[in-house]
Amino acid sequence: MTANPPTRIAQLRQASVAMLDGLSPAEQRCQSHPELSPMLWHVGHVLFMETYWLAERVFGDSSVTEAWRDLYVPEISAKDARSARLPDAADLRAWASALAEENDAYWQRANDVDHPLLTDDYLAAFVRQHYAQHLETMRLVRAQLALAADDVMPAAIEPAQPDGRFETIAAHSVDIGTPTIDAYDNEQPVFTAHPATFAIAPYCVTNDQWLGFIQAGGYECREWWDAAGWAWREQAQVQHPQHWQPLADGWAIAGDTTPDVGARPVHGIGWYEARAFARYAGARLPRELEWEAARRAGVLGDVEQVWEWCDDAFYPYPGFRAFPYDGYSMPWFDGAHFVARGASVHSEPEVCRPGFRNFYPPTHRHVHAGLRLARA
Ligand code: AVJ
Ligand code: FE
Repeated sequence: MTANPPTRIAQLRQASVAMLDGLSPAEQRCQSHPELSPMLWHVGHVLFMETYWLAERVFGDSSVTEAWRDLYVPEISAKDARSARLPDAADLRAWASALAEENDAYWQRANDVDHPLLTDDYLAAFVRQHYAQHLETMRLVRAQLALAADDVMPAAIEPAQPDGRFETIAAHSVDIGTPTIDAYDNEQPVFTAHPATFAIAPYCVTNDQWLGFIQAGGYECREWWDAAGWAWREQAQVQHPQHWQPLADGWAIAGDTTPDVGARPVHGIGWYEARAFARYAGARLPRELEWEAARRAGVLGDVEQVWEWCDDAFYPYPGFRAFPYDGYSMPWFDGAHFVARGASVHSEPEVCRPGFRNFYPPTHRHVHAGLRLARA
């Protein structure tokens, strides 16, 4: 049995609504980044989805969801049209309290009901993870909102070379995937992989090392970049991580003015940049199965600080079956999304497991992702 699901869900609901605290009405409603929906939308969406899966799908009660479907179901709600249609914070908070009460009653009833989605508390785990993931995204929204307001303080960073440390993992067999009820469809079915011998860095690439890359002409040397990555770099005019800002004498790193920032994992970079760094370092990105094998072997020293870009496009494991709906993973097996493993400082415990697979387009730089190196 899992911990009492309603208690954790209540916490997650409250944490979601609390993401509105301290923001102006304009900040609550704006799109802080082209890829990030307004904070008000995320709060409404997570409450809506809990209600959709529990009240509508399990109990056949669509009295709440009907009116809100075209705003809160992402597939039918155009991203750039969300802002104008959202209720204000006071209305949303009132709606959230009412829904919490109704849904708690349904969770109570769910203890005595037979339904495929309720087997082994599957739905409660699914709903918790959905809240957890959007909480992380809401922290990304707050980070983007803070970018504008942040003090421009020089960061204590010094250019450094990649440290050259690698742990060798000898060829072996390892079970890949997540066998438990909290697994997403893309982590299943579990299968045995046989990675050949490879080497992987015990630590992620740091801010100091990223500065070394910049000073070595990392963003100017065509030969370190993939063709698509170079085309993107040219067009987007990218020259540093998303939240860095060049000063007359040094760099500001928004959201981080602590003295050890240089030694901490870099983030604010997309997959193309991660690939360019790996080539500059004479290495490559880990394949995601290598990453998982290394994670399970216990050689990764600093996981769950930044999401870690892997070399692979997001793809289905052999025997994949979409569950509980097609939209979670299937649309993103399109060759245009790349895997990020681990978790970040913004992640909730619900996504912190060796088998969890995140996935983003190669140009997404606001998702708190960095990298570690690997080589054959
Ligand atoms: C797996 C993080 C890319 O936020 O778009 C949330 C997770 N799916 N609601 C996303 C997700 C549906 C997804 N990512
Ligand atoms: Fe969602």
